[in-house]
Amino acid sequence: MNLKLKLRPSFFFSFLVFIFLLKKPDLGSASNSPKCISSQRQALLTFKQSLTDPSGRLSSWSGPDCCKWRGVGCDRRTSYVIKIDLRNPNQTLRRNGEFRKGSLGGMINPSLTRLKFLSYLDLSSNDFNFTEIPEFLGHIVSLRYLNLSFSSFSGEVPASLGNLSKLESLDLYAQTFSDDLFTINLRSGNLGWLSGLSSSLTYLNMGFVSLRGAGEVWLEDLSRLEKLKELHLFSCEIWNLPLSFPSSSANLKLLEVLDLSRNSFISPIPNWLFDLTSLRKLFLQSVRLQGTISPGFKKLKLLETLDLSKNELSGEIPAVLGDLPQLKHLDLSENSFEGQIHRFLDALSKNKGNSSLLSLSLMFDRLEGTLPESLGALRNLQILELTGNSFTGSIPSSVGNMASLKKLDLSFNSMNGKIPESLGKLEELVDLNLMENKWEGVLLKSHFVNLRSLKSFTLATEANRSLVFKVPSTWVPPFRLELIRIENCQIGPSFPMWLQVQNKLNSVTLRNTGIADKIPHSWFSIIAAGVTELYLENNRIKGTLPQNLVFPNLAAFDLSSNNFQGPFPRWTTYATELYLYQNNFSGSLPADIHVLMPRLKNIKLFQNSFTGKIPSSLCELTGLETLNLRNNRFSGSLPKCWRPSSELYEIDASENSISGQIPESLCVLPRLSVLLLNQNALEGNIPDTFQNCSGITHVHLGGNKLTGKLPSWLSKLSSLSMLRLPSNSFDGQIPDDLCSAPSLHILDLSENKLSGPVPKCIGNLTAIVQGKSVDEYYEYQEIRDSINLSGNNMYGEIPAGILDLTYLRILNLSRNSVAGSIPGNISKLGHLETLDLSSNKFSGAIPQSLAAISSLRTLNLSYNKLEGSIPKQLKFKDPSIYIGNELLCGKPLSKKCPRKQQNVVLN
Ligand SMILES: *[C@@H]1O[C@H](CO)[C@@H](O)[C@H](O)[C@H]1NC(C)=O
Ligand SMILES: *[C@@H]1O[C@H](CO)[C@@H](O)[C@H](O)[C@H]1NC(C)=O
Ligand SMILES: *[C@@H]1O[C@H](CO)[C@@H](O)[C@H](O)[C@H]1NC(C)=O
Ligand SMILES: *[C@@H]1O[C@H](CO)[C@@H](O)[C@H](O)[C@H]1NC(C)=O
Ligand SMILES: *[C@@H]1O[C@H](CO)[C@@H](O)[C@H](O)[C@H]1NC(C)=O
Ligand SMILES: *[C@@H]1O[C@H](CO)[C@@H](O)[C@H](O)[C@H]1NC(C)=O
Ligand SMILES: *[C@@H]1O[C@H](CO)[C@@H](O)[C@H](O)[C@H]1NC(C)=O
Ligand SMILES: *[C@@H]1O[C@H](CO)[C@@H](O)[C@H](O)[C@H]1NC(C)=O
Repeated sequence: MNLKLKLRPSFFFSFLVFIFLLKKPDLGSASNSPKCISSQRQALLTFKQSLTDPSGRLSSWSGPDCCKWRGVGCDRRTSYVIKIDLRNPNQTLRRNGEFRKGSLGGMINPSLTRLKFLSYLDLSSNDFNFTEIPEFLGHIVSLRYLNLSFSSFSGEVPASLGNLSKLESLDLYAQTFSDDLFTINLRSGNLGWLSGLSSSLTYLNMGFVSLRGAGEVWLEDLSRLEKLKELHLFSCEIWNLPLSFPSSSANLKLLEVLDLSRNSFISPIPNWLFDLTSLRKLFLQSVRLQGTISPGFKKLKLLETLDLSKNELSGEIPAVLGDLPQLKHLDLSENSFEGQIHRFLDALSKNKGNSSLLSLSLMFDRLEGTLPESLGALRNLQILELTGNSFTGSIPSSVGNMASLKKLDLSFNSMNGKIPESLGKLEELVDLNLMENKWEGVLLKSHFVNLRSLKSFTLATEANRSLVFKVPSTWVPPFRLELIRIENCQIGPSFPMWLQVQNKLNSVTLRNTGIADKIPHSWFSIIAAGVTELYLENNRIKGTLPQNLVFPNLAAFDLSSNNFQGPFPRWTTYATELYLYQNNFSGSLPADIHVLMPRLKNIKLFQNSFTGKIPSSLCELTGLETLNLRNNRFSGSLPKCWRPSSELYEIDASENSISGQIPESLCVLPRLSVLLLNQNALEGNIPDTFQNCSGITHVHLGGNKLTGKLPSWLSKLSSLSMLRLPSNSFDGQIPDDLCSAPSLHILDLSENKLSGPVPKCIGNLTAIVQGKSVDEYYEYQEIRDSINLSGNNMYGEIPAGILDLTYLRILNLSRNSVAGSIPGNISKLGHLETLDLSSNKFSGAIPQSLAAISSLRTLNLSYNKLEGSIPKQLKFKDPSIYIGNELLCGKPLSKKCPRKQQNVVLN
C-alpha cells in the first residue's frame, strides 16, 4: 500500500504499460493465457461427447476456457486451438488392464475439422476398437503432426491423408496391445496418396500396416517423400524389395533412419541402399536377406547402427564394416556368417585406433578361428556377444584393455585354454558369460581383482572339471553377484566361503563343482530372502539342511545327487520343483507339506532314506504332476485321498516297504499315466476301479504280494503300453481279453502262479504286430516290445499266431511246461533279440531258421526234450544254452552227432 502511494504518475504509467505488455499473448504469462473461442470450445465438446473415457482423462474438459483443458493447446495470439494431445500416459502398462482402462475409445467426431488451425493431433496409445481411421482427418489441412499409433485402428488408411500438405510427422504404427505380434489390421493398398506429402513429411511410421497390396511400386511411392528423414516399415508384409532404385524418384537423399525389419524379401542386399548416404540407422532384421555383405557399405559413412540380424546372409564378415567411421552398434546375429573375424576386427581397431563401436553382436553364426589380440583395441565397446559360434583358442589377454566392457558373452563356443588374468581389469563388467566351452587351467583371485560391477557370472566347461578355482578361503570378492552359474568346474572340495558375502544373489547354480563339504546353515539364511533358483546338484555336499527357513521367491530347488542327510527341509517356499533325489535324507515327510510348499508340481525324492507313511497331504497339492519316491523306506499304506481335480500323472513309489491294498481311489486321478508300485509289500487284488484308469500307459506292480485272477477288462485300458506284474501270486489263466489291449508293447507276467495254455490269441497284440512307436517314454523303464511269461505253470504248445508279432524283441517262456516243437518258421520274428524257452518240454529239432534272425543275441534252450544236431549256422558258443536236452548233439556241445543223422538234417 505504502509503496503504491509513493509512486509518481509517470512511473505508474510505465508500470501499466508493462502489465499490458505482459498480457500480450506472444509474451504469454500463466495468468494471462488465451481465452478460448466459443465455437472452438463447442467443437471440442462435441468431439469429447463421442469418445468413451473410462478413467476420466477428459474430466477437465468442462470449464469455459478450453485452452486450459488438459491436452488442449491454443495459439497465444489468436486463441485458436492448435494442439490436441490425448496420448495415453500409461505407456509402460501396454500389456495389462491398466492400459486399457486409461484408453480413450468410441468415435472420432468430425467436429474436429472445425478446428481450422489444428496443427498437432496425438490420439496414440488409445483403443478405437478396430474402427477405421476417419477420412475427414484429411480435411484438417493445418496438421503438421499426426500420431495415431498403437490405437487399434483397422481397415484401409484413408487416401485423404495425402491432402495434409503441411504434415511433417505421420505415425500410424499399428501394433495393438490385444494382438499377438502377427495380426495386422491396418493396411494401405496403394501408397499413391503419399505424393501429397512429398514436400513436407520428414517422419513416417507405418509399422504393422500391411503394404501387401501396395505392389512393386511401394518404394517408388515412398521415395517421392523428398524431405523424409525417418522411415519405419516394421512388419508391413512387404514381399518385394526392388533391386534397383526407381529412376523417377527423389532418392531419399535426406533419409537418416530406415527400418524395414520383419518383412520377407528373399533377396540380396540391394545396391540402392548405398546411395542413401545420409543414413545413420539401418534396421534390416529378419527380412530373409541372402548372399554376402557388399563393399557398397563403405559409402554409408555416417552409419551408426546396423542391424542385419536374423537373415540368411553368409560369407566372411568383411573389413568394410570395420571401416565405417561412425559405427556404434552392429548386430549380425543369427545368420550364416562363417570364417574368421580377424580382418573385420583389424579394420575396426587399426583404422581408427579408437573405434566408436559400443555394441557388437555376432551370436549364432558359424564363425570360427581364434579371437585376435586386436580385440583389445575396442576400448569403447560395451557389449560383445559372440555366443553360439565355433570360436576356438583362448581369450586374448588384450581383453583387459576393453575398459568400457559391460557385457562379455562367449558362451556356447569351442574355446579352450586358460582364461587370462587381464579379465580382472574390467571394472565396468556387469555380465560375464563363459558357458559351454572347454576352458582349462586355474582361476585365481587376480582374475576378479577389479570386477567391482559384476552382477552375473556364468562359467561352464564341457570337459570334466578341467578348470579349477583356486582362491584363498579368506577371499572377499570385489563384486556382489545377483546370478552365479558354475558347472563342471572344480570349486571344491571346500564350500567357497566367498559366497558367504554374496547377499544379493537371486540365482545360484553350482552343478558338478566338486564341493564335498558342509554348507554353513548361515549361508542359506543369507540367500533365503532373494533367491529364486537354487541348483546345487551333482556335488558331494554333506551335512544337514537348516530347518524352518522362508524363501519367499524360490521357484525351484535342486539339491539332488549329493550326500545331504538329516530331515526333509521344512522350508516355506512357492517352489514348483523339489528335487532332493540321490542323497541320504531321512525321517518322514512333513504332514503339512501342502502348507509349506503349496505350489509343488514335480517332487523327486528317489534314492534317499525317507521313512514313515506317505503323507495324505500330498493330495492337497493341487498342482502336483509327478511324484517320485522310489527307493526309500516308506511304509504303511498308500494315501487314499486322491481327487478328480488333481493334475497328477506320474506316481513312482517303487522300492519301498509300502503295504496294504492298492487304493480304489487311485483311478479318480484323471491324468494318471504312469503308476510304478513295484518292489513293495502290497497285497490283495488289482481293484476293479482300475478299469477307470483310461489314460494309463505304464503299470509296474511287480515284486509285491498281489493275488487273485488277472482282470478280464485289461483291454479297456486303451493306452496301456507296459503291464508288468512279475513276482506276485496271481493265479488262474491269462484272460483272452488281454490280447485285444490295443497299445500293449510290454507284457511281463513272470514268476506268478498262472496256469493254462499260452493264449491262442497272443498274436493279436496289435501294438507288437505293427511296432507302433512308443510315444510315452518313461525314464526308468526300458521300452522294448517283449513278452515274459516265465516261472508259471503254462502248458500246451506255442500258438502259431505268435509268429505274427513281427516287432517282438524278447520272448521268455522259461520254467513252464510248454511242449510241442519250436515253430519251423520262427524267423518271422525278425526283430527278436532274446529267446528263452529253457526248462520246458519242447521236443523235436532246433529249426534252421532260428539262425536267420540276425538280431538274436541271447538264446536259451536248455532243459527241454530237443533232439538232433544243433544247426551249424547258430553261432552261439556257450554250451550251457543247450544242456539238459539228452538227444541234442553237435557244437558247441561236446557230444558229436552220428554221421548219418547229420546228413539227414543237412538235407
Ligand atoms: C496410469 O496408471 C496409474 C497407476 O499405475 C493410475 O493411477 C492412473 O490412473 C493411470 N492413468 C490413467 C490415465 O489411466
Ligand atoms: C507417437 O506416440 C507414441 C506413443 O503413443 C510414441 O511412442 C511415438 O514416439 C509417437 N510418434 C512420434 C513420431 O512422435
Ligand atoms: C468393439 O466392437 C465390437 C464390434 O466390432 C463390439 O461388439 C464391441 O462391443 C466393441 N467394444 C467396445 C468396448 O466398444
Ligand atoms: C482430399 O483427398 C481426396 C482423396 O485423395 C480427394 O478426393 C479430395 O479431392 C481431396 N480434397 C481436397 C480438398 O484436396
Ligand atoms: C579416442 O577418442 C577420444 C574421444 O572420443 C579422444 O579423447 C582420444 O584422444 C582418442 N584416442 C585416440 C588414440 O585416438
Ligand atoms: C568327473 O571327474 C570326477 C573326478 O574329478 C569323477 O569322479 C567323475 O566321475 C567324472 N565325471 C565324468 C562324467 O567324467
Ligand atoms: C545315511 O544316513 C544314515 C543315518 O541317517 C547313516 O546311518 C548311513 O550310513 C548313511 N548312508 C550313507 C550312504 O551315507
Ligand atoms: C484276432 O483278431 C481278429 C480280428 O480282430 C479275430 O478275427 C481273430 O479271431 C482273433 N484271433 C484270435 C486267435 O483270437
